[in-house]
Amino acid sequence: MPAEPDATVELCAIDAFAPEIYRVAAAQQELHDTVTLELVPENGARPVFAPGQFNMLYAFGVGEAAISMSGDPTAGGGYVHTVRNVGAVSAAISGLKAGDQIGVRGPFGAGWPVAEAEGSDVVFAAGGLGLAPLRPAIYQVLKHRERYGRVAILFGTRSPGDMLYRQELESWRQRLDIEVDVTVDHADAEWHGNVGVVTGLVRRATFDPADTVAMVCGPEVMMRFTAAALGDTGLAAGSIYLSMERNMKCAIGLCGHCQFGPDFICKDGPVMAYDRIAEIFALREV
Ligand SMILES: Cc1cc2nc3c(=O)[nH]c(=O)nc-3n(C[C@H](O)[C@H](O)[C@H](O)COP(=O)(O)OP(=O)(O)OC[C@H]3O[C@@H](n4cnc5c(N)ncnc54)[C@H](O)[C@@H]3O)c2cc1C
Ligand code: FES
Repeated sequence: MPAEPDATVELCAIDAFAPEIYRVAAAQQELHDTVTLELVPENGARPVFAPGQFNMLYAFGVGEAAISMSGDPTAGGGYVHTVRNVGAVSAAISGLKAGDQIGVRGPFGAGWPVAEAEGSDVVFAAGGLGLAPLRPAIYQVLKHRERYGRVAILFGTRSPGDMLYRQELESWRQRLDIEVDVTVDHADAEWHGNVGVVTGLVRRATFDPADTVAMVCGPEVMMRFTAAALGDTGLAAGSIYLSMERNMKCAIGLCGHCQFGPDFICKDGPVMAYDRIAEIFALREV
């Protein structure tokens, strides 16, 4: 006899599709195509999330996009999201101003292993906008700096003009208890720093490959080469975590849009250990 559909599951699923109404408390232009929005709930709730999780942001009348939290998880009061304008939905979200409304579903997904990394060295490796989903984990580690070994933040960006969170990077760089190394693909006349890809920073960062957790976020090609460079240092694949991106629809493991081998990126990810995905990740077309 066929199994009866579980009414509880169906009701939960329907709830999960209903966005909560949030209001834009502040909008800050980060780069020519990238904006950071502070969103506060209209219902006065205090949203809680883990670093690495994402929300589905709904621009009314246009559509939804998966966007990671980029703010301090302990700040309370709302969500911070950094959005790059690449298409219809992200353009509508990027165009919002203080006071505008937006729909929010979430938080969804598995986050960075911030607690598991306690006692170990930590390497954050970000490419471009990939620094946004890593930033909540960086805040957590810096807030509890004494719980970790050496901490390195390695950041690669296209050009000095494309550098996300430039002032914050500079303030992190002033700290004596972390290593911050930045590189650009293309320098300009003012740039006197590193030129080249982020893998070059991995090779000279100081960490103990036998006891390090690496968290990597950026374009897939960057993550592929960074994971390989980390592996070359002797770091185990199970200690390297990547944040995966696929087109999302339901965000709760129902529609199959984000399938990645046997996993769904929306519920089994987006943060996944490299040993779990390395084989499929090596196939570019998946
Ligand atoms: C878990 C997760 C977290 C994300 N976090 C952020 C974030 O913090 N900030 C941010 O700006 N964006 C983030 N994204 C990407 C964002 O969801 C897409 O850029 C957005 O859906 C694009 O929608 P659009 O309608 O504006 O563009 P579309 O018209 O849908 O697409 C424009 C271009 O982007 C490509 N694209 C669309 N969606 C994706 C995707 N998910 N991955 C790769 N390429 C895509 C399309 O192929 C096309 O080339 C995240 C995606 C995921 C899955
Ligand atoms: S977005 Fe529907 S299963 Fe992941």
